[in-house]
Amino acid sequence: MSRVRLNAVSGLVFMLFAAAACADDSEAAVKLRIGKGNPEAGKAKSAMCQGCHGEDGNSASGTFPKLAGQYAAYIQKQIRDFKAGSRKDPVMSDMAATVTDEQDLLDISAYFASQKLMKGDSAVHSESGQGRFTTGNGCSNCHGATGKGAGPGNPDAPVIGGQHRDYLIKQLKDFASGARNNEASGMMPMIAASLSDEEIEDIANYVSGM
Ligand code: HEC
Ligand code: HEC
Repeated sequence: MSRVRLNAVSGLVFMLFAAAACADDSEAAVKLRIGKGNPEAGKAKSAMCQGCHGEDGNSASGTFPKLAGQYAAYIQKQIRDFKAGSRKDPVMSDMAATVTDEQDLLDISAYFASQKLMKGDSAVHSESGQGRFTTGNGCSNCHGATGKGAGPGNPDAPVIGGQHRDYLIKQLKDFASGARNNEASGMMPMIAASLSDEEIEDIANYVSGM
């Protein structure tokens, strides 16, 4: 890694870290992560999305990511990326294309963001996964100590704590292989590529249990 790259990286980590605050389901935190959309309107508008992502954003299967309590701004970015083709998935790309109205996008993402933060099964634990999450590549610096993001007012890094294990593994492998390359700073691909398959599984075990 070049020195310039390293400086940019530590700058970004510092920025995110400096903005850290508690990400929880308090009224103030929920308001911040919802953004400008209207969650009530988004409930009806997201009926089709709920078919795969769950009525309250907690999907039943690891093929479909949980969206409960996810930052609205992050959801919007992913939909825009799927539409633009910078993130691709045979199913989700077509779904994203159906969201053509900007207000619909704000409302749908606000609906999922307004739900209680996704939560995993705390019985799932991995010592080595915990080590990798909190040290080394510093996942926790950006994704927060409990994986719920750096803070309610900082939507830069998504909520991953409590996300499905299989989905987390797929995303990390997609970043590593370059199949997912919609992250502007290039940080996630670089970080994911530095992890072995075993480390990815350990981290996913730990993070999905949060
Ligand atoms: C038929 C099932 C299906 C439907 C319906 C569907 N999705 Fe998805 N969605 C997926 C799958 C599969 C993925 C994971 C793609 C991948 O592996 O990268 C996904 C991923 C996403 C992501 C990325 C989540 C993340 O954590 O990065 C968002 C946001 C999303 N969907 C929003 C929506 C919205 C909004 C709608 C309704 C307009 C919708 N989805 C409808 C299957 C579906
Ligand atoms: C410098 C900040 C930073 C660090 C450090 C970092 N991430 Fe990320 N991560 C991000 C950003 C930003 C995104 C969103 C990319 C996008 O816009 O699609 C992301 C996305 C992800 C996703 C996809 C989430 C989803 O819902 O699809 C996973 C999984 C993930 N990171 C895991 C990790 C793990 C595990 C580590 C540590 C080994 C880590 N990240 C370290 C910033 C970071």
